[in-house]
Amino acid sequence: MKQVYLTGITTSGTPHLGNYAGAIRPAIDASHDPNTEQFYFLADLHALIKGFKPEEVRRSRLEVAATWMALGLDTDKAVFYCQSDIPEIPALAWLLSCQAAKGLLNRAHAYKAMVQDNDTSGQNDPDKGITMGLFSYPVLMAADILMFKANKVPVGKDQIQHIEMARDMAQRFNHHYGEHFVLPEAQVDDSTAVLSGLDGRKMSKSYNNTIALFLPEKQFRKQIMKIKTNSLEPGEPKDPEGNTLFEIYQAFATQEQVDNVRQQYAEGIAWGEMKQFLFEHLNEILKEPRERYDELLAKPAAIGEVLQHGADRARALSQPFAAELFDAVGIKPMWQ
Ligand code: TRP
Repeated sequence: MKQVYLTGITTSGTPHLGNYAGAIRPAIDASHDPNTEQFYFLADLHALIKGFKPEEVRRSRLEVAATWMALGLDTDKAVFYCQSDIPEIPALAWLLSCQAAKGLLNRAHAYKAMVQDNDTSGQNDPDKGITMGLFSYPVLMAADILMFKANKVPVGKDQIQHIEMARDMAQRFNHHYGEHFVLPEAQVDDSTAVLSGLDGRKMSKSYNNTIALFLPEKQFRKQIMKIKTNSLEPGEPKDPEGNTLFEIYQAFATQEQVDNVRQQYAEGIAWGEMKQFLFEHLNEILKEPRERYDELLAKPAAIGEVLQHGADRARALSQPFAAELFDAVGIKPMWQ
């Protein structure tokens, strides 16, 4: 039986180098494997809980879609779509809400962390500032996964709990209404690169230390030049381990290239020189995709067409499956 891989990309912000090395590149590589099926989608309904302005939501949807396409996702093979184009997903989220124990959702890490914050800041309302969107985020995510009978869900460690909750909801539904859902499993790859950002902490939107993937060349160079280094002088031997420049280079270079740069560190390469070298190396890799990206952003209709095609393929599955599920709970057109 074919393995079905599914993963969602929350459309919040502009994709950065860390997203590419950690999530986008492995997913695109996997999309070329003939023995698996892929569902990759823009989780734009999930993005709404982050409180972005409509303009930011619009922009990010385009940027994320253009990024995946520019980097070579095979959109004829992988089913690539917007979550919001599949109305059966929020409908399924409701069916699952009616199965999910509230106590289960109370234990979700993201929700618990917010309650904890309210508590430590002396709030007497533990739920202050918490929307139902945030609270029931795992239910919508379960609907994303269960709708397409995914058995493998590639995610970061922070999402494992959500996959377990999806299994729980699927099992409860199956128990009450018969075997409809496939139980999904999280696929966490420890070997995928986690990049550091400008300040040396993990590259992340929440630290505001990211290097965007597709900046104009000059701005891209400027960002690389901003990466924090230490005060070692040119000629002094430098330790590549834990060095942000080295780490980023390593995520985008062959073993031979990496060994070569390791040698340069031992010989005391100047930080300025290493930055220029890193810039040139990355620029070479990103140049062509950057051109495609700029072209796509200039023609959003071309992006829309690809997503529409993906949504058509997805709905060919979600419509009959949703009908089956509604029938199972006792809801179907009266005349049938
Ligand atoms: N919650 C995921 C994240 O923030 C995004 C996501 C939404 C997702 N729906 C999904 C991931 C379904 C995997 C499967 O990264």
